[in-house]
Amino acid sequence: MDYVMNINGEKVGETLPKMEVRNPATNEVVGTVPNGGAEEAQLAIKAAYHSFTTWSQTTAYERAHYLKTLNDLLLSNKEELAEIMTLEMGKPISQSLGEVVYAASFIEWYAEEAKRVYGETIPSHLINKRMQIWKKPVGVVAAITPWNFPLAMITRKVAPAIAAGCTVIIKPSKESPLSAVKFMELVDKANFPKGVINLVTGSSQEIVGEMMKNEKVRKITFTGSTEVGKILIKQSAEQVKRLSLELGGHAPFIILDDANIDRAVDGVVASKFRNAGQTCVCANRIYVQAGVYEEFVEKFSEQVKKLIVGDGMEKSTDIGPLINKEALIKVSDHVDDAREKGATVVTGGKQIGEGVFYEPTVIRDVNRSMVIMQEETFGPVAPIQKVETEEEAIELANSTEYGLAAYIFTENVARGTKVIEQLDFGIVGWNDGMPSAAQAPFGGMKESGIGREGGHEGMDAFLETQYVSIGMD
Ligand code: SIN
Repeated sequence: MDYVMNINGEKVGETLPKMEVRNPATNEVVGTVPNGGAEEAQLAIKAAYHSFTTWSQTTAYERAHYLKTLNDLLLSNKEELAEIMTLEMGKPISQSLGEVVYAASFIEWYAEEAKRVYGETIPSHLINKRMQIWKKPVGVVAAITPWNFPLAMITRKVAPAIAAGCTVIIKPSKESPLSAVKFMELVDKANFPKGVINLVTGSSQEIVGEMMKNEKVRKITFTGSTEVGKILIKQSAEQVKRLSLELGGHAPFIILDDANIDRAVDGVVASKFRNAGQTCVCANRIYVQAGVYEEFVEKFSEQVKKLIVGDGMEKSTDIGPLINKEALIKVSDHVDDAREKGATVVTGGKQIGEGVFYEPTVIRDVNRSMVIMQEETFGPVAPIQKVETEEEAIELANSTEYGLAAYIFTENVARGTKVIEQLDFGIVGWNDGMPSAAQAPFGGMKESGIGREGGHEGMDAFLETQYVSIGMD
C-alpha cells in the first residue's frame, strides 16, 4: 500500500518518489511512503507555525478534549495499529498490542496533565510590586522518532507538546514510518485543527536539516543514538533551540546474593528480550554476585531456551527478527568477540537461517575487555559476568559514558538503597525489569541524553518560564 504524509491536514506526497518499507521477517515490501525532503519540511513548519497562534490560545480543557478523543481512537484501532507495527519492524504482535496501549497511556496522562500547568506567585519584597511566574508553550516542536517503538515514541513526545499548547512536526524513522501515517489518520479523525500535528517522511538529512536551520522551530525532541544526538546539540547551538534527547543506553543488571533468583530471572528475561533486545533500556550487561552465580546462570538459561523465535505475526513468537543486516552483523560480532576472548556461550550464539533472526543467547564468564560489555548490543544476547562484591558491581556498572537505565535485584532494602545512591543512571529498576510508565520520568544521565520524557517533567520540556514583575501604586 502507498501511504502519504500529512501536512496542514492535507494528504501530501502522492507524486513524490517513494521509499519502500520492508518487513524484516520476510523482506517483503509492506508499504511505501513519499521520499520527502526540505521542501515538505518547510511546508510542515509553516503550517505548524501558523496554527501555533490559535492552538496556543486554546484552553487546557479544549486540548485535553482533543487528546482524550485521540486516546480513545488509538485504543479502538489497537489491532490494526499493532499489525502495521509488526509488519514494518518485526516486533511480536503481542508486544505491538502492548505498545499501542503504552502509546495511548501517554495521551491519556497528558490530557489530564494539561489542566495542571500551574504558574506561581512569588512574595514580593516591595509593597508596590507583584511577582508572578507564567508558563508558556515553547512554540513549534520537531519530534524525531526512532524505529524501535514506532508509536509510543511519537505519543511520548507529541502528547505533552500538544497538551502544553505547542504544535508539532513528526519525522519518523525510515524503517518504520507506517505506524506514524496511521497515527495521523487518527489525528484527523479526532478533528485536530489543521497544522497542529504534521507528518513528514523521507530523507533525514534534508528534513532534519531544515528543522535545525529553520528559525520557526523552537524545540527539538529526539530519540536515537548518542552519535546523532551530539550532532543535533551542535546544530541547535546556532539558534539556541531547546532540546530533549533520549539517547543510547548500556544498562547494567546487578543481581546480588540476597536476590530472589526466580524474580531476577523473570526480570532479566523481560528486560533483555523485549523487542528482541532492541530497546534503549534493555539489560545489556548482567553482573551476578558469586554466591548465586551458578544458580542464576542455570535457571536463566533454562528460561531463555524456551523462547520462541519467529515471524512477529505468529501469536506464539517471543522474539522477532532484528531490524536489518547491519544490526545482525553487530550482534554476531559482539558474540564472536566474547567467544574469542574466552567467554562461554551457554545457549544460542548464531544466526537463524538466511534472514535477520538471531538465536536468544546467553554468554557466561564475560569480562570488561569484551566489546559486548563496552557497547550497546541492541540484540537478543545476554552476557553474564561474575562479581565478588557490590562495590565491584557498582564500579563496573558506572564504568561507561552511558547513564540511561540500570537494574538491581536484592531483597535487602538498606543494601538496595545504598547501591542505587551510587548508580549514575536516570532510571533504576529495583526488583523490576520493566520500569517504563507514562507518569514516570524517562531519560538518562551522562551521554544518554538531556531532559526527561513522561511524567510532569515531560511536560516541562515543552514549556517556557516567563517571570512577570508587576509594578502598581
Ligand atoms: C526506548 O527504547 O527508547 C523506549 C523504551 C521504553 O519506553 O521502555
